[in-house]
Amino acid sequence: MPALPALPEPPADPGDAGDPAARATALRALLLYHGHRYHALAAPEIPDAEYDRLFQALQALEAADPALRSADSPTQRVGAAVLDGLQPVRHVVPMLSIQTETDTSAEGARAFDARVRRELGLAADAPPVAYHAELKFDGLAINLRYEQGLLVQAATRGDGESGEDVTHNIRTVRGRPGAGGAIPLRLQGEAPPVLEVRGEVYMRRDDFEALNERQRERGDKTYINPRNAAAGAVRLLDSTQAAQRPLSFFAYGLGEVQGWIAGHEPPATQHGLLAALAGLGLPVARENAAVQGAEGLVAFHQHIAAQRDALPFDIDGVVYKVDSLALQQQLGFKTREPRWAVAHKYPAQEQATRLNGIDVQVGRTGKLTPVAKLEPVFVGGTTVSNATLHNLFELRRKGVRVGDRVIVRRAGDVIPEVVGRLPGARAAYVPNFRIWPRLCPVCGSLAERERGGMDYRCSGGLFCPAQRKQALLHFAGRRAMDVEGLGDKLVDQLVDGGLIRTLPELYTLGLAKLSALERMGEKSAMNLVAALEKSKATTLPRFLFALGIRQVGEATAKDLARHFGSLDRVMDAPEPELLQVPDVGPIVAHSIRSFFDQAHNREVVERLRAAGIAWPEGEGATTVPQVLAGKTLVLTGTLPSLGREDAKALIEAAGGKVAGSVSKKTYAVVAGEEAGSKLDKARELGITVLDEAGLQALLAGAAAAGPAA
Ligand code: IVH
Repeated sequence: MPALPALPEPPADPGDAGDPAARATALRALLLYHGHRYHALAAPEIPDAEYDRLFQALQALEAADPALRSADSPTQRVGAAVLDGLQPVRHVVPMLSIQTETDTSAEGARAFDARVRRELGLAADAPPVAYHAELKFDGLAINLRYEQGLLVQAATRGDGESGEDVTHNIRTVRGRPGAGGAIPLRLQGEAPPVLEVRGEVYMRRDDFEALNERQRERGDKTYINPRNAAAGAVRLLDSTQAAQRPLSFFAYGLGEVQGWIAGHEPPATQHGLLAALAGLGLPVARENAAVQGAEGLVAFHQHIAAQRDALPFDIDGVVYKVDSLALQQQLGFKTREPRWAVAHKYPAQEQATRLNGIDVQVGRTGKLTPVAKLEPVFVGGTTVSNATLHNLFELRRKGVRVGDRVIVRRAGDVIPEVVGRLPGARAAYVPNFRIWPRLCPVCGSLAERERGGMDYRCSGGLFCPAQRKQALLHFAGRRAMDVEGLGDKLVDQLVDGGLIRTLPELYTLGLAKLSALERMGEKSAMNLVAALEKSKATTLPRFLFALGIRQVGEATAKDLARHFGSLDRVMDAPEPELLQVPDVGPIVAHSIRSFFDQAHNREVVERLRAAGIAWPEGEGATTVPQVLAGKTLVLTGTLPSLGREDAKALIEAAGGKVAGSVSKKTYAVVAGEEAGSKLDKARELGITVLDEAGLQALLAGAAAAGPAA
């Protein structure tokens, strides 16, 4: 990356107070600063949502008093200037932006459909409009110019009229082997004389993580998100550096076109166009769909929302386009935006807020985690007031201090995290956060760090009330002993009130002690006693998992139960025998061995058994030949007779695992009716594909050989 020119500190945020004219001036300065960082330097400092907030604040001021609207206001233009060093390129067909539907609910889609129908003069009872629904990739827009099928130029969007020549970097976009995304240097087959393809350059999340990991190892700065990393790479001056950044591409439209593929009619629809582009060897996302009317758009919006976090790349919404190119032409443009397309966003996954404080949380295994106490902020669909700072090293690397404005990210079910701080001077000197003296904040035991590890751990074990609470919560959890009604409030009361020191004491609580607790009615006490009673009938895998042995998750607990068949055999197994269990390596084996080598842990087990906890003995023991031991299979589509759970149980009983996605490590894909993209992926990677009968044969001992037809 070329050294960035030294920049002044960003102008101050004027907030909501003061004279509107002064606020508008201050907001303009702030927006120009961040706009320059975003567009010209590709090094934004604030999340998009924060920029939007400032932008909307200025728009509101200008709307209230149009005299405040100066010609150079950022609200009056789109995009930015060209960076020195890269050559300007004039776009033959301007690269416009699309209007954003800010209502993130389903209504956003209906509002767009209503506008389109009105513009087309359609009667209320006219049939639904055909749309093409696509992903809104979160990357950088690029125009690729192919002449006689050869890539001759690639340019960024710039201000829409002219961008920058980034051909040298774009030639290095190779996508991900096996997953597509490469920009072809020459189009496949017969190509139009001149074809400009528009699309998005982006970085996959796995590629982004790996890149950051490399940066970290080298002690270089890490990137805040895949979009910044991709945008920065495209605009590098040195393409050998760009080549080190793993970039991918998706095509979604056209620029200038002269002629068409010889012997073919030019496409009449957006979906036909994308199919033609795919035919020329350009990467096109497979999640696109041709849909009918507002309800089709709504369904697509919901379908993609459910998949958003499982996609291998970031999107910030979906894009709806009128499918017919003739209707697109009829609808035309409104100043700078087409009337035939709209971007429909999802709730932002990053937001700015203030860091009010830092707490240290003690986990089940004693791990100390610094937790950010935040000014509550709506992000990723919920209000977040706590976010993880991972560990002291991460905290130091990010340079976050109490009082800073920080960026919070919450994607899907992942725990919210603080990704960095917003620039800006601190009002006063704030020291770096430390845990000093190095003691557990809950029990005062020494906090120690394993050699080479990043985490400090409280050495108090179950003497530490925090660890005791977490151990109880884990034990009672839904996937462990499943004690309904034993939540954190109650656990706090039980531990803080000294009623419980060890797990078995849970079963000696009794109605009298429980109903004596504050805020505990007789009814709830009875319910809890009943729930405890019910939990006693369990299974061996659940019990093993509930014990909270380090490194033993649900899957390992199942494997152990299956391999050994009885608790006593697990407890007495020497390390070499533990290593025979699929997926158990030296670290896990050692952890299991040392857990059961401690007399107090054996005593806990005995007392739990004495309290009446029991499971069908021998259950899960190996009666089925372990023909799939160590192998991972993927299920897709509907099998003729086996339900998904049945198929999974059969595979697991034979020692195999079922994964959600296909990779090179997949042993076989079992495909039924309406198999989806996993089947395509399997074929692409040359992985064995089986039908239900094939699976049965495999379970009966036949080997899965070679890719099936
Ligand atoms: S179509 C005239 N389709 O979103 C319409 N844009 O403002 C041109 N984007 O920066 C845009 N995914 O880079 C279109 N499937 C998609 C897109 C998409 C992402 C970006 C585009 C542009 C912005 C639109």
